[in-house]
Amino acid sequence: MKTGKTLPAAITIFGAKGDLTKRKLIPALYNLYTDKHLPPVFVIYCVDFLPEDETAFKLDLLAGINEFSRNGKANEKEWEGFAKNIFYLQGDFLKTETYTGLKGKLDAFGKKQKQNGSRIFYFAVAPRFIEIIAEGLYKHTICNRDGLDRIVVEKPFGTDLDTAKKLNRFLTKRFAEKQIYRIDHYLGKEAVQNIMAFRFANYVFEPLWNKKYIDHVQISVAEEVGVGKRGGYYEGSGALRDMVQNHLLQLLCIVAMDSPEFYQSELIRDAKVKVLKDIRPYTPAQVLKNVIRGQYTAGNVHGVPRLPYRKEEHVLSASNTETFVAARLFIDNDRWKGVPFFLRTGKSMPVQSSVIVVQFKDSPHKIFKDDITPNRLIISIQPELEISLLFESKVPGLKMKLKPVEMDFTYQESYTETIPEAYEALLLDVLDGNPTLFMRADQVEAAWKVVMPILDTWKKYPAKELHLYKAGTWGPTAATALLKPYAKDWFRLSAREDSIK
Ligand code: BG6
Repeated sequence: MKTGKTLPAAITIFGAKGDLTKRKLIPALYNLYTDKHLPPVFVIYCVDFLPEDETAFKLDLLAGINEFSRNGKANEKEWEGFAKNIFYLQGDFLKTETYTGLKGKLDAFGKKQKQNGSRIFYFAVAPRFIEIIAEGLYKHTICNRDGLDRIVVEKPFGTDLDTAKKLNRFLTKRFAEKQIYRIDHYLGKEAVQNIMAFRFANYVFEPLWNKKYIDHVQISVAEEVGVGKRGGYYEGSGALRDMVQNHLLQLLCIVAMDSPEFYQSELIRDAKVKVLKDIRPYTPAQVLKNVIRGQYTAGNVHGVPRLPYRKEEHVLSASNTETFVAARLFIDNDRWKGVPFFLRTGKSMPVQSSVIVVQFKDSPHKIFKDDITPNRLIISIQPELEISLLFESKVPGLKMKLKPVEMDFTYQESYTETIPEAYEALLLDVLDGNPTLFMRADQVEAAWKVVMPILDTWKKYPAKELHLYKAGTWGPTAATALLKPYAKDWFRLSAREDSIK
């Protein structure tokens, strides 16, 4: 049987002149093409509002590949072969003729392929257009074969639980759930996918993966970048909606989920939803105690001065939007009862570093005089891709003296394969009709349910306990205090050596 990868594919990108298309989607599709993962017959229709000369448009896409592709500059011949399949369609998402025009093109392409191909519609647009475009596709029966036609919806998926539910209802009335691919690009990252392999293909860790042996877990996604030109969007979002509701909670799910019975998309997604449902809901008083929010002030990152958040473009001068969140969450199930999961993310931090640290408990039975550092498993997602295990070892010499050391697995040393970008993996899954790494409707809603008490509390007390931190630092000190008594500080990749005490 043919898979989606070999079936002819018509890919339509709405929002073709946006940043996402240029930086991520086209470079990913180009790399899939050069690595021979795209089907032999494919076409990419790029739809956007503004009139555009097709040649100039393609040159801009080429510039995007040259600048952002993991493989560097495009090869002239490969680019020509790829680019001849790209077409720019000028169209207002609000107008009927955009959809009739697109339908005409897709039908003509389909006819040539004996209607045997899949259709992918990527919504790389502002959230206000999602329903409009979905309605256009539905009304004009452009995306109606539930085994072959798919839509890909970018985050943010709603702005709270109610809007997410409304959007889910809207989409599922028009498309089958299996046609809807809600993307969270963190799930496509190589090192994130590897956590599943690490946990469920190495039985040695499973007996230890619970409250009896694990002291706490830290999930930290630090970003060097500030909000840059995205102030308009970010003001209405903040770090909680932008990062925690999706990326960080998804990382937590992978770390905390039970083993699915098989490696099968629905079973995996069921196991993740269960984790979200088991997260303890907080009262407003508990929110104030367990969740810290911060906002960056003027500072510098790598010696380059940074504006305070409140002076960024399109940001209110008295904004209370958080650019940093740290939270202590508990999963009230048998496996995790009482084990804190510390989540942290922030912008304008000293370095980019996404790390998960599983801290094991101290040995209850001590036979050595030295202080023992408890075992620690460190999963680095980016920029390094590594897994290390910290353990005690005897320092060579005539005395029994101990010191913690690390056992390291790095992708660089173990593999010669190149690491695909998250969007490459995810786009290929869409073409192949594999939803494992995408968010199901109930998953998105369960994640919103986790953050709703926090959003509601902050709405009620807009400025209460908004901690300021200098750009280029690791966030407010209140976030460090949150770790007590479990840890003295957040684990930082850049400070790994210091942290091995
Ligand atoms: C996006 C957020 O989803 O993820 C951005 O909207 C953030 O604010 C980005 O910068 C981080 O992604 P990555 O892959 O660079 O860690």
